[in-house]
Amino acid sequence: MTVDIPSLTLEQKASLLSGGDFWSTKAIPEAGIPSIVLTDGPHGIRRQAGGADHLGINDAEPSTCFPPAVAVGSSWNPDIARQVGAAVGREALTFGVSVVLGPGVNIKRSPLCGRNFEYYSEDPLLSGVLGAAHVAAMQAVGPGASVKHFAANNQEHERMRISSDVDERTLREIYLPAFERVVTEAAPATVMASYNKVNGVYASQNPWLLTEVLRQEWGFDGAVVSDWGAVSDRVASLAAGMDLEMPGSGGATDQQIVDAVRSGELAESVVDEAVRRVVALAELPHSASGEFDVDAHHALARVLAAESIVLLKNEGAALPLSAPARIAVVGTFAAEPRFQGGGSSHINPTRVDAALDALRQLADENGSSVEYAAGFVLADDDEAETRRREAVQLAGRADVAVVFAGLGDRDESEGFDRTTLALPDAQIAVIREVAAVAAHTVVVLSNGGVVSLEGWHDDVDAIVEGWLLGQAGGSAIADVLFGRVNPSGHLAETIPLRLQDNPSWNNFPGEQGHVRYGEGVMVGYRHYETAAQPVRYPFGHGLSYTTFDTTDLHVEVTGSDTATARVTVSNTGAIPGKHVVQLYVSTDAGPVRRPERDLRAFSKVELEPGESRTIDLALDRRAFAYWDVDLSAWVVPTGDYAIQIGEDASRIVAERRIALGGDVRLRPLTLESAVGEWFAHPLVGPALMRGLTAGMTEEQRKHAADNPDELKMVESMPMQQFLAFTGGAFPAEALDQLMALSRAETVAA
Ligand code: BGC
Repeated sequence: MTVDIPSLTLEQKASLLSGGDFWSTKAIPEAGIPSIVLTDGPHGIRRQAGGADHLGINDAEPSTCFPPAVAVGSSWNPDIARQVGAAVGREALTFGVSVVLGPGVNIKRSPLCGRNFEYYSEDPLLSGVLGAAHVAAMQAVGPGASVKHFAANNQEHERMRISSDVDERTLREIYLPAFERVVTEAAPATVMASYNKVNGVYASQNPWLLTEVLRQEWGFDGAVVSDWGAVSDRVASLAAGMDLEMPGSGGATDQQIVDAVRSGELAESVVDEAVRRVVALAELPHSASGEFDVDAHHALARVLAAESIVLLKNEGAALPLSAPARIAVVGTFAAEPRFQGGGSSHINPTRVDAALDALRQLADENGSSVEYAAGFVLADDDEAETRRREAVQLAGRADVAVVFAGLGDRDESEGFDRTTLALPDAQIAVIREVAAVAAHTVVVLSNGGVVSLEGWHDDVDAIVEGWLLGQAGGSAIADVLFGRVNPSGHLAETIPLRLQDNPSWNNFPGEQGHVRYGEGVMVGYRHYETAAQPVRYPFGHGLSYTTFDTTDLHVEVTGSDTATARVTVSNTGAIPGKHVVQLYVSTDAGPVRRPERDLRAFSKVELEPGESRTIDLALDRRAFAYWDVDLSAWVVPTGDYAIQIGEDASRIVAERRIALGGDVRLRPLTLESAVGEWFAHPLVGPALMRGLTAGMTEEQRKHAADNPDELKMVESMPMQQFLAFTGGAFPAEALDQLMALSRAETVAA
């Protein structure tokens, strides 16, 4: 669409930079600019026809609730994210929605974050690959995406004003890469600026974040949208690169923009640029068209959900329930499923499958029988004991008990964080008492954030982590329990033994307006592996009903900072299944502390029994790089790197070591540089040594050669201080020359 921006008045232009109502932009019909709708997102469409709100309180039009990101993350399969994105895109078209808000690619820093169900993983690669797949597929269908919440929005506590205090290396290596990947690979129509501050400056008015990093470094050309109500100072936010304020402010902030331009505080060109980006959104489809296939989308939601389920434990092959059996189903979640999280992503589903119904249906087919007892309810309960007793009696008569446990809507949601990982006591009591009498016990979990398995893990035979699976999750769980689907989900986040073991423990959720990301890059498994801290189940863990073998790892160095890995995966069991090849890189090269290992590539592969497949995984420069704060650049240090294939982040099954030339990045020397740095410099060091030894007697030289430790003692001393001790051994002029030499040899960042 060509809009003649200069022909618009300043007032008209300013009016385009905030919402007309809760979910739409303003139109200027005489200039041919339509109003467009932006709405949640991400795993379904929340199109509110009546009263609007941003926390999902008022009902929306029915749409399919696909598996939320917590489930998609566990699929480790970009194709699952793609299918969710495309299907949500199709539904958006039918509602005339131009921009679907999401996906959320924030990192799960703490398992307590109330919104973890809306995020994929504790790992930036996994989050970024899945987020990019979702966005690309949805935008190929038509609607635009709004990748959110940019940035460092990793908790709900005080989310609208807290400052996330994060050092730059940690931002670059952990909290920004998923956004970077989505932006550079999938070009989302919009990026949503989060509520919180980043290092003291609101994300929505942070020029470093919104302009330097997002636009200048990553080349983002879409519009930046505020999270709903995230604007504190409209003029500062516009100047920082925040184009569209949502929702509107009744015109108040539009007037502030006009005033700022008139007073000379804000250049009109900034307004024009933001208008250009907002008007460009009108290129997206914006009138309702067609209908979506409710049945087909529900069936799709079932398939996607089943691939997201993680089989955590399966002792004595308790699952699948293949032989005819008397099955005791216990737990209110079986009949009233919890399948999505609370808050702005809340979907009014077209229908909901209860696992109990699906289990009954599949049990009929294989000659099993199902009986049900609630065991517990989520509300305060005077009948708790009676309910528990009924469940235990039922379990005692059965061949296998399947207990559905988890968290209720009141336990976790957008808007607040949890304070514990524990399941409610009433549920733990039911699990333990049922397990004590049942021949076999299976626990199925429904939860948006990690729950602790302690206190009951060893009592049961099998544990199925069902997360929140969307509206068809009940059927998907039945598919996995009966073996109609072979589970292939893997943990996208660690399940710790204790909450205190989590690296954010001492710094979550912050105090006095600040949350300090004190653990740095050691987030999730990066910490657990580096500190050799035992966990209940590591990142990447997930069982199958078949077995796989990984062999023949070959790694080829393809440049000074790139490599490719090749590995063969075989299905050594009796049924078809999917395996995730997880490639980690481990190194201690470089001047910064590196995690024990980082996930650098992964691939999910489907194999028939007996089938083998060779998988190639490319490792680009970033797979080996760290962010260097001195050079403000990614650096691949010269050194050794171990390429590891893991069954999960803890269990490495194959390893090859490679040496990389890396980058030649010599740092300019100053008088503040340490003596050790002067001597280690490849050009300056030898020259310095020559100068030092030239003035020595033969005896002194011998002494120096025999006592290298004496130099070690002064290695960390800045040259300036060292000079004071040497009594003029190094003339200032000579040092100046050496410093000039060191600058000349610096490779530009
Ligand atoms: C949430 C966003 C959401 C927006 C609109 C905000 O409160 O943080 O994720 O897209 O509301 O509902």
